[in-house]
Amino acid sequence: MSKTARLEVNGQTLEMPTIVGTEQECGIDISSLRSTTGCITLDDGYGNTGSCQSAVTFIDGEKGILRYRGIPIEELAESSTFVETAYLLIYGHLPTLPELQRFSKMLTQYENLHEDMKYHFEGFPTNAHPMAILSAMINASSCYYSDVMERPTRENFDIHAARLLSQVRTIAAFSYRKSRGLPIIYPKPKYRYTANFLHMLFSDVYQDYEPPPEVVRALALIFILHADHEQNCSTSTVRMVASSQANLFASAAAGVCALWGPLHGGANQRVIEMLADIHKSGDDGSRFIAAAKEKNSGKRLMGFGHRVYKNYDPRARILKKASDELFESLKLDDPQLAIAKKLEEAALSDSYFIERKLYPNVDFYSGIIMRALNIPTEMFTVIFAIGRMPGWIAHYKEMLDDPKARIYRPRQIYVGQTINHYVPIDKRTGKAG
Ligand code: CMC
Repeated sequence: MSKTARLEVNGQTLEMPTIVGTEQECGIDISSLRSTTGCITLDDGYGNTGSCQSAVTFIDGEKGILRYRGIPIEELAESSTFVETAYLLIYGHLPTLPELQRFSKMLTQYENLHEDMKYHFEGFPTNAHPMAILSAMINASSCYYSDVMERPTRENFDIHAARLLSQVRTIAAFSYRKSRGLPIIYPKPKYRYTANFLHMLFSDVYQDYEPPPEVVRALALIFILHADHEQNCSTSTVRMVASSQANLFASAAAGVCALWGPLHGGANQRVIEMLADIHKSGDDGSRFIAAAKEKNSGKRLMGFGHRVYKNYDPRARILKKASDELFESLKLDDPQLAIAKKLEEAALSDSYFIERKLYPNVDFYSGIIMRALNIPTEMFTVIFAIGRMPGWIAHYKEMLDDPKARIYRPRQIYVGQTINHYVPIDKRTGKAG
């Protein structure tokens, strides 16, 4: 049933249609607001703003539900592979066997970087953060293929997408090897997506690293759980850049930069640093919890809280169980896991966190698993970026396929100085005005 919203402003009544999604979410279409009333909406941090209609991912943050193309994340975590999940997100349906085989073949075909890219890696200082290298090299990589410099067409989109999805892990692995002063290890077609990445990270020149199946599975699970999350900061960035008709690689490189921040993907690195600090200081977590509640302390319980989830993040629930299973099967013991569990228990029974509906998010346990896989801390957000790539590509495609897509261009309420005049330098007093 379509509803109408009514707004009275400047003595006028505006009737606005509502758009109801397939999960009954309701949005008020305000597209005639400014032309009719002269007003715009103002929504700090976009907490109430729908930027698009999208069919990729559904989240119900109150109930803790996450579905890719309608399929619950729990089912994908249990039964799917990362490549199959990537196909699902990008093309909108689970692939048939021939579709999956064709997609996998393309990922293998495009796994190598242009050989001259090696020189770009050599130009970075050894302590360069791998997220900086990743973003720069995704853009650099597009320079080697003239067609990729252009916005894809519907006909060649598959090639652009496969090239990016395949090469992101090659670039990520090369940047890690560079940061350790280790020789580059090339991808090998005999390995599947995740195993191939682990091979490029950890093999040495004369001997391949053969990861145990539970290691491959744990990393693939992390990739699957990070693969999309609707209009988050980095995906909105990708869509913003894509809306100007920039190419897919440029849009994804911008997404990497947005993901890097500690309030977004960078939180997984910060969680481990926080756990290490707590462990080193001999705190059992209670002192840190007290500081995180104190506004002026500059501390937050990293890996806790979410703009959309006001309930347990379903990805954190899956990762918590996966970390228990991994530690048991690899016979590992990590004091950080015990501290994390203690922090979680304390926060979930503390009125500060209860009242604000702050629960563990995806970053709370992912870092502990990556540590167990010997992935260095500075690579954690890079792993997130590899996982998120199918989502970014899916959102890019959604815009490419939309004949009504327009450039994103928000407005503002100007609060600066009103008309002011140029003053020659010898007449300036140094004060504004
Ligand atoms: N520790 C302590 N207090 C917190 C935390 C936290 N982790 N998160 C939110 N709060 C408090 C915040 O101080 C505020 O309190 P008050 O109402 O008294 O001012 C209230 O909760 C609401 O917080 P907010 O910052 O207005 O909420 P937001 O929706 O703008 O931010 C968030 C969401 C994820 C940025 C925030 O919860 C946070 O900084 N969490 C820690 C960083 C983190 O784990 N980020 C990963 C997010 S999930 C994966 C991803 O997106 O990449």
